Amino acid sequence: MDLEKYGPWALVIGGSEGVGAAFARMLAADGFKLVLVARKQGPLDELAAELRGRGAEVRVLSADLSKPDVLAKVRAVTDDIEVGLLIYNAGANDTRGLFVELPEEVTQSVIAINVLGQANFSRHYGALMAGRGRGGIILGGSLSSYLGSPTLAAYTGSKAFSRIFSEALWGEMAPLGVDVLHLNIGFTATPAMARLGMPVELAEPPETVAREGLENIANGPVWIVSTPGNVERAQMINGIDNRAETVRAHAIVPRDQTAAAANQQQNLAEP
Ligand SMILES: NC(=O)c1ccc[n+]([C@@H]2O[C@H](COP(=O)([O-])OP(=O)(O)OC[C@H]3O[C@@H](n4cnc5c(N)ncnc54)[C@H](OP(=O)(O)O)[C@@H]3O)[C@@H](O)[C@H]2O)c1
Repeated sequence: MDLEKYGPWALVIGGSEGVGAAFARMLAADGFKLVLVARKQGPLDELAAELRGRGAEVRVLSADLSKPDVLAKVRAVTDDIEVGLLIYNAGANDTRGLFVELPEEVTQSVIAINVLGQANFSRHYGALMAGRGRGGIILGGSLSSYLGSPTLAAYTGSKAFSRIFSEALWGEMAPLGVDVLHLNIGFTATPAMARLGMPVELAEPPETVAREGLENIANGPVWIVSTPGNVERAQMINGIDNRAETVRAHAIVPRDQTAAAANQQQNLAEP
């Protein structure tokens, strides 16, 4: 990763485990200094110790992205440094249910993290990057951005926001020297997914996802991770015709059927 263009500091939001930790390790190996943000202090401290042991300068912050003061808290640890790379990785969904029945705080949290968070962090750090005429922003996306899935209304809607927002921001920022990428992720073997009981043995390793994000930061606005079946699924669910049938037929399946769906996705991709 080009330290001159995207350094010296990278801010990884959701940078304690999974894809975020993989980003952090790769960037540290390339000489970046890191600010890592997540809620749980323990995993942040462990990763920071590991990276410092390899010579990296690391700051950590425990903060909750669903709270309105989160950008102010992150700014308190970044206002004195030059953040040339923003990676907004956090944003997975751990609650399913009918939108009208889920507690308001649950759906508001999804929207705060994936919509307001991506917008607010992009505005603040993007403006500073634009002023310097260089930098990069990677926003954590999902294949679910292509299809509204019942029981995941707030999540799929918020990922659609991320993808469309990224496209527009990419167009605005490219002439200013700043790369923007919506990293469109499929089923990935993260600790968050493992904690939900998902069959992560069938999923993409986080390292592959992070590597593809870094390697393709200049190939925006959208990069679909090359997991077999991802591009095919995006093409299948993204058409404008007959949305009713598409939503009925291709909604994200309940978690207990995910293993079968992941197997089917891999079979589809085989020649
Ligand atoms: N894994 C998949 O199969 C998959 C599929 C499609 C898209 N994605 C996307 O990939 C990204 C990463 O997903 P993931 O599976 O690793 O799970 P995740 O729950 O987004 O966790 C990733 C990181 O974000 C932090 N985090 C989560 N919620 C936070 C909050 N409210 N405030 C501060 N930090 C928070 C976590 O640490 P703490 O828990 O300590 O806060 C962790 O470091 C997300 O944007 C997700 O939508 C993932």
